[in-house]
Amino acid sequence: MPLPSPLSDLVSYCEKLCVKECCGIEAFDFSPVHIASWLHQSRGEPTDKTVGLLNDQLEDLRIRFGTGSSEEGYESDENEMNQFFSTAQVDQLADQIETNLKHALELNQQSNLVEWKPEGTPSTTSHQPELGNDFVRALSWRYATKKFDATKAVSAEDIETILSATNLSASSYGLQPYQFLLIQDKSLQEKLVDASYGQNQVADASAVLVFVIRTDIDADYIKQSAAETEAARGLEPGQLDGYARQMIGSIMSFDDNDRKSWATKQAYIALGTAMAACAMLGIDACPMEGFQPAKYDEILGLESKNLHSVLVLPIGYRAEDDINSKYAKVRKPLGEMVVRVG
Ligand SMILES: Cc1cc2nc3c(=O)[nH]c(=O)nc-3n(C[C@H](O)[C@H](O)[C@H](O)COP(=O)(O)O)c2cc1C
Repeated sequence: MPLPSPLSDLVSYCEKLCVKECCGIEAFDFSPVHIASWLHQSRGEPTDKTVGLLNDQLEDLRIRFGTGSSEEGYESDENEMNQFFSTAQVDQLADQIETNLKHALELNQQSNLVEWKPEGTPSTTSHQPELGNDFVRALSWRYATKKFDATKAVSAEDIETILSATNLSASSYGLQPYQFLLIQDKSLQEKLVDASYGQNQVADASAVLVFVIRTDIDADYIKQSAAETEAARGLEPGQLDGYARQMIGSIMSFDDNDRKSWATKQAYIALGTAMAACAMLGIDACPMEGFQPAKYDEILGLESKNLHSVLVLPIGYRAEDDINSKYAKVRKPLGEMVVRVG
């Protein structure tokens, strides 16, 4: 017998990569933080109705298949947990989900999507800075926006904030071997659609950031960067010469391809920073590798400027009917992602 929705959605969201038949209930992560993540991401702010419905469905499961029923247990559907639960296990399962649902609601109320610890374990929650909560909430809210509302524009002030934040991104030796192209020109944006394998985000978005790497990184560029650091930190001119020589030794020992690859890695970090900045501002974005760099370079006249496009980030506001906005966020549970050593 299949479980009813939304309980069935919750169960399938909590499935880990493990094969269901292999680990039984262990193949599911019903921890509060995971349930909180489901409530938050798939349903926005959970309504009393959803929570009431989930509790009714759990109660129904107990009545029909738990210890008080005349059944021998619950045979879960092939697409759910794919195993037989004895009546005692049904009660246990329902109790676990119900209890953790309560914890999940508390977590969501505090917006504390942090690692849950069983009762009795000291909690680190109270030491979590406020920003941490807002940040996780913003990252839960964001998604790769497929369809932008072409009528909505990001304000000039927000664009500047995103650019400033992106410019604060970390880079190897602080050399920033990249630049960001800001495109706010509909006819140019439309030209980029073909070069983006038909992805219309680049045309509909309010602005498009193209992350380009510099192909002219040489010893002079590195010396200049060291001189800027000396000036910014009030050092004597030449004080960082040794450091500059070390950087030159490292970066200039790469061949062209390796240097491009090194610069591209730095651009990816900047992309992540830009995406996080957008999320914090409630602005949508779509990270994109799905484009033809050679065509972008040609359309944007990049080669003559010693630049090469590596990543694209359309930004704007999601269209109401963007189907991607309706999908639950899919991430492996923290327990699977984090290897805690010691
Ligand atoms: C480097 C990178 C390149 C991506 N390229 C594209 C792309 O070309 N088109 C697209 O629609 N989504 C693209 N995505 C979006 C991913 O598919 C998306 O981030 C992933 O499925 C996780 O979903 P979420 O970002 O909505 O949470 C890209 C994401 C990254 C990080």
